[in-house]
Amino acid sequence: LSQIEIKLGDIPEGKNMTFKWRGKPLFVRHRTEKEIATEEAVNLTELRDPQHDKDRVINPKWVIVLGVCTHLGCVPISNAGDFGGYYCPCHGSHYDASGRIRKGPAPLNLEVPFYEFPDEETVVVG
Ligand code: FES
Repeated sequence: LSQIEIKLGDIPEGKNMTFKWRGKPLFVRHRTEKEIATEEAVNLTELRDPQHDKDRVINPKWVIVLGVCTHLGCVPISNAGDFGGYYCPCHGSHYDASGRIRKGPAPLNLEVPFYEFPDEETVVVG
């Protein structure tokens, strides 16, 4: 299937759920207010692949990224690592709760796919 429809009500605040989309893992993360505030406040000069959190989300409560490490393609672990977002155990890449690379060998942020919210309870990716 080229598109996936996900019911957001199934994902509690503070949790990341993994779906399969176009043969790849897709992460949907329901962020807490604290995570949103932390990521919005990050200084872009600290970032290897500088992108403001606002440019990576449509609704700040929801981070939707491919679960594919930009180093060599392993699947990162959610809510792990030094920046509280994702940690890739293959070679130790740390991503923040916006999916941005913060430490380790990965060169780029986790990829944000095209998605839309047809209504408040649903996201369609692809
Ligand atoms: Fe993730 Fe190497 S594949 S750190």
